Amino acid sequence: MAQTIAVLSQKGGTGKTTAVRTLTDVLRRCGVRTLAVDLDPQGNLSDYFDLPPDVQPTVAEVLSGHAKASEAIHEDTIPANLSLAEAELMLGGKMGRELTLKRALADTAEDYDVVLIDCPPSLGLLTVNALVAADRALITAEAQYFALQGVEQAMEVVELARDSLNPQLSLLGVLLNLADMRTVHSREALASLQERFGEAVFDAIIRASIAYAESAERARSILDHRPDLGADYLALADELLGRLPSMDSARERLAELAQSSAT
Ligand SMILES: Nc1ncnc2c1ncn2[C@@H]1O[C@H](COP(=O)(O)OP(=O)(O)O)[C@@H](O)[C@H]1O
Ligand SMILES: [Mg+2]
Repeated sequence: MAQTIAVLSQKGGTGKTTAVRTLTDVLRRCGVRTLAVDLDPQGNLSDYFDLPPDVQPTVAEVLSGHAKASEAIHEDTIPANLSLAEAELMLGGKMGRELTLKRALADTAEDYDVVLIDCPPSLGLLTVNALVAADRALITAEAQYFALQGVEQAMEVVELARDSLNPQLSLLGVLLNLADMRTVHSREALASLQERFGEAVFDAIIRASIAYAESAERARSILDHRPDLGADYLALADELLGRLPSMDSARERLAELAQSSAT
């Protein structure tokens, strides 16, 4: 059975899509069968993986009942494009609208160890669908003023999903992203998150660098583009695997990967 992780934040620009893309890369390199699901009508994740823009079917067809999830998997990714915005509107008027993604993904659960869902930059129906389909929630925060406020808002939606539709949902962790620890903003953001969320805040922090925009543009993983920066994501993946059940052998492979990319 796959462990499903929803990656969310209350706004855009917190590095969600980059985190999903890069964690997917790391996990796959460790032999973890990983499905990436793009749940943002902007389709950034699909772009980052360099899928053709006209690839069909997408998650929109899955949510509207026109395709099975297994049919919408292209290179272990379920892509999205603007048609997802329309599918979301249609979904709003349906019974069981919050359960649609969960039901759809059920037929892929045996084929993967981990499913990573990239949420849109809002806490609406699509993000709720992701949280209902998920076992764990990973909240990303940009290391800036108001980071705490944003994470608290995302956390409220996680709790809402847990209390109403998905009692088994739990927090996987809070990630400080786009951080420059030389600045007061980033240090304060980290301190406030740690004070509020304690151990749930990952020790691994993703440093800010212009290299991420370059690597996104070239649809090239940061692990290859800038292995020195990619090390942040190796550290994050190690913590993440440590928080999931039965991932010991993947962690061993990750340690080997980290060693070989450091030399
Ligand atoms: N660690 C980072 N440092 C600097 N820029 C980053 C970093 N991670 C992502 N970015 C860039 O920031 C922008 C937003 O990132 P993205 O992952 O798309 O965020 P979100 O999905 O939350 O909107 C993109 O241009 C991306 O390339
Ligand atoms: Mg995004």
